[in-house]
Amino acid sequence: MTSSLGSAEHLLRRLGPIDPVPELVELGRAKPVCPMSAGGGPSAFVVTGHDEVVRVLTDPAFSRAALNMPMTGFEKTGGQLLDLDPPEHTRLRRILNAPFSRERVMALRPALWELADQLLDRLVEHGPPADLIEHVVVPFPLTVICDLVGVPRPEQGHVRELTSRALDLTQPAAAHAAATDLTHYFVELIGERRKAPAEDLITELGRAHDDGQLSQEELITALASLVSLGHETTAAALGRAIVIALRRPELVAELAGPSEGDRLLEDLLRLSPATQFTLPRVTTRAEVLSGVSLPAGTVVVPCLISGNQDPRYFADPQTPSSDARARPHLSFGLGPHYCLGANLAREEIRTVMNAIGRRLPGLRLAVEESALPWDKNSLIEALQRIPVTW
Ligand code: HEM
Repeated sequence: MTSSLGSAEHLLRRLGPIDPVPELVELGRAKPVCPMSAGGGPSAFVVTGHDEVVRVLTDPAFSRAALNMPMTGFEKTGGQLLDLDPPEHTRLRRILNAPFSRERVMALRPALWELADQLLDRLVEHGPPADLIEHVVVPFPLTVICDLVGVPRPEQGHVRELTSRALDLTQPAAAHAAATDLTHYFVELIGERRKAPAEDLITELGRAHDDGQLSQEELITALASLVSLGHETTAAALGRAIVIALRRPELVAELAGPSEGDRLLEDLLRLSPATQFTLPRVTTRAEVLSGVSLPAGTVVVPCLISGNQDPRYFADPQTPSSDARARPHLSFGLGPHYCLGANLAREEIRTVMNAIGRRLPGLRLAVEESALPWDKNSLIEALQRIPVTW
């Protein structure tokens, strides 16, 4: 199977808010490294097979730093983890790892439970039908990451507007302007915390800056990308995971159980990566990937959603299962850029799913799944509304 640019565009489109086009998943088996040609010759390769995606994400021959192809307002702003290769990446990543360690995330659990209960209280008070995106799916991760970073609650809605605009792929100038506004916002907030330190990441990372571990640019970029990646991705994955669970209502109750629920949750994450693709990489030398020769300078686009459903490894790839023998999924990426917030995101999604399973076991969609709107212009392609009843 070959692919012209026209068919590549077809492949990159989603079938709906959850599912990729079937041809994309089929490529993982038939042609896991597939050229996407633009007129004269191949300009990039889409990588769809599970093992091939693993190789691209873990092999240093595939670089982020050598690629100058900003897609959102956040890339190439300087000091951005996702723009760096080791060893520069390793230095910065070590500093940012600490607040997102398993231990630090476990300490947040009581606050997460309390917030989930508060949001569900308000949802119940509102009564059915209600929009789960407005009441839970966005406010939960937004509040968690903003509280952690130190954005005051009344300003969190403003931060949400800026991050959403910065991820719009169709308005590059507006996306860049929004990312710039967000960095200015953090410059001011950093100044305020210097005068009045608090128990938050602005203060903690500000101290790392004062100790000479982080430049001012790295500090600002880190805070701006944490509030953005820290809620847009989680909201997108959480929204999708909930809708998939609602396809079989007994799954919602199962999610309230401890061990079965955890395995099921992991498999729901396999089916709900925040983005279909990771950011592109470029080869720094000639490479062969799955028998395909890639000259130095070739752009490759790893596909998480097809790797997660690779028919070579998943017998019934689109059905969520609590089978403990399942192959590890790629929804948080892999290798040096493995999601910094994976511990936090897992705990957040576990908390919300568990709270829904406990409190609203009869939850169901109030409209057909095919009528759910999603944001086709954003890198994240998140669901915009999930009307539910119970
Ligand atoms: C379910 C929710 C989430 C999903 C599915 C997700 C997914 C991902 C993926 C796939 C990558 C790798 C991108 C690539 O290699 O091109 C990534 C990286 C990253 N994520 Fe997440 N993420 C989630 C939540 C979070 C949260 C809560 C935070 C904030 C604490 C966060 C912060 C980051 C950062 C900073 C990176 C860059 C890491 C690096 O380059 O070293 N993410 N995420």
